[in-house]
Amino acid sequence: MHDKKKVNMDIKSAEFVISSPTVEKCPNTQQPEYAFIGRSNVGKSSLINMLTGYNKLAKTSATPGKTLLINHFLINKEWQLVDLPGYGYAKRGKKEQENLQRMITSYILQREQMTNLFLLIDVRHEPQKIDLEFMNFLGEHGVPFSIVFTKADKLSRSKLACNVQLYLHQLLSNWEELPPHFVTSSETKQGREDVLNYIEEINRSLAG
Ligand code: GTP
Ligand code: MG
Repeated sequence: MHDKKKVNMDIKSAEFVISSPTVEKCPNTQQPEYAFIGRSNVGKSSLINMLTGYNKLAKTSATPGKTLLINHFLINKEWQLVDLPGYGYAKRGKKEQENLQRMITSYILQREQMTNLFLLIDVRHEPQKIDLEFMNFLGEHGVPFSIVFTKADKLSRSKLACNVQLYLHQLLSNWEELPPHFVTSSETKQGREDVLNYIEEINRSLAG
């Protein structure tokens, strides 16, 4: 049974494992993996650092297109966080764009260890076509995902609540059921416990 009790995840260790150019080259491990995807610059790498409390674990940058490989991080020697390259960075060349898209989709569709995909959405913006299409793609392929709104610190409390509601409302026009969602900030650590406890719940359910 799924354990619904609140759990408090403690991060005891976080280690960089490897950067892989293709899903075939990803490490041959059996631990559950939680991967982060979304548009370039949405805050995937920053979120990994915020969740783990290791500020230099994943490489971040103010300019989009920083993460270009599949990066594995081993947490508490038991499970993995996976930092993926972002999609939708218009200034990339066509070839590079296609190459990254292939890397991302083959990881998402083929990686059996991937237990949950966190799809990051910048909470400041209205729903964007590219993200909605990406969600449809995940739905079509039955990929388990949840939504993480990022950069919550950049909005007032009322605007934040309003944007989240608007986003979820728009999703309901296309989806019968909403995926789990989290509101986060890598600056203020908002949402840290919620995301970690969600991961811990899944880890426990997998352990039986
Ligand atoms: P790519 O690897 O290029 O796809 O980007 P990414 O999604 O990994 O974004 P990254 O974590 O590198 O962050 C991009 C920029 O957004 C950096 O300048 C971060 O400091 C900033 N940023 C990320 N998360 C937050 C947040 O929660 N609040 C604020 N204010 N800035 C953030
Ligand atoms: Mg990154």
